[in-house]
Amino acid sequence: MRKKIVAGNWKMNTTYEEGEKLVQGIIEKKSEVKGDVTLIVAPPFTHLCCFAEPLGKAGIGISAQNCASHESGAYTGEVSAAMLASIDVHYCILGHSERREYYGETNNILLEKVKLALKHNLTPIFCIGEKLGEREAGKQFDVVKGQLQAVVCQLPAADFEKIIVAYEPVWAIGTGKTATAAQAQEVHAYIRKVLADTFGDAANRTPILYGGSCNPTTAPELFGQPDIDGGLIGGASLKPADFISVAKGF
Ligand code: PGA
Repeated sequence: MRKKIVAGNWKMNTTYEEGEKLVQGIIEKKSEVKGDVTLIVAPPFTHLCCFAEPLGKAGIGISAQNCASHESGAYTGEVSAAMLASIDVHYCILGHSERREYYGETNNILLEKVKLALKHNLTPIFCIGEKLGEREAGKQFDVVKGQLQAVVCQLPAADFEKIIVAYEPVWAIGTGKTATAAQAQEVHAYIRKVLADTFGDAANRTPILYGGSCNPTTAPELFGQPDIDGGLIGGASLKPADFISVAKGF
């Protein structure tokens, strides 16, 4: 039995006050979601310290959206994994396509970030996925394999057990174009196979989330697939009712 997880990636949205309302709304509705589904919320850095306690009390996980690739020191504007751990953040999204695309995050940088997150007991939610042109050229399998081999497959087996993977086809993110359940399942099964080639049976315990325009309508069929263990939700995580409806897709 793998963990079922629905995580909300707020990206660069919400002022502090708006974020407080959103958290409150999610906490109020949490009881509508089945008890075996883990909810995680990933607000901007500025909100994490104040949201950690109410979310923790409500049994909801709190995640950062990024962390630094260095331990500490002269890196103006960066936030380290140790800092996040010190305010009771337990998860960290890493490798999101927006970070790869707009901030030049390479596989090598991401490997450093993942290692530091793990060192400080943050669970990485590691994102992979192909761009539109790559999908059109039939290269989606090669792309996700390369992203996994360069980062996740480099980890010691004990660390691999702590990882959450998120498959997010870039062409589906924020576009309203959800991958079909069959398209997503095909890649999820492939991801699990690539992980099993390196880590064996442990790959059967790795949660693999789908992300990319997942919404209350598309979630049930996606979450019903054998290798899809939940979702990483962008747009639909910004309204309590939508986020909770997605989580009720299980
Ligand atoms: P979306 O974003 O749900 O708005 O497509 C998902 C993500 O980028 O994590």
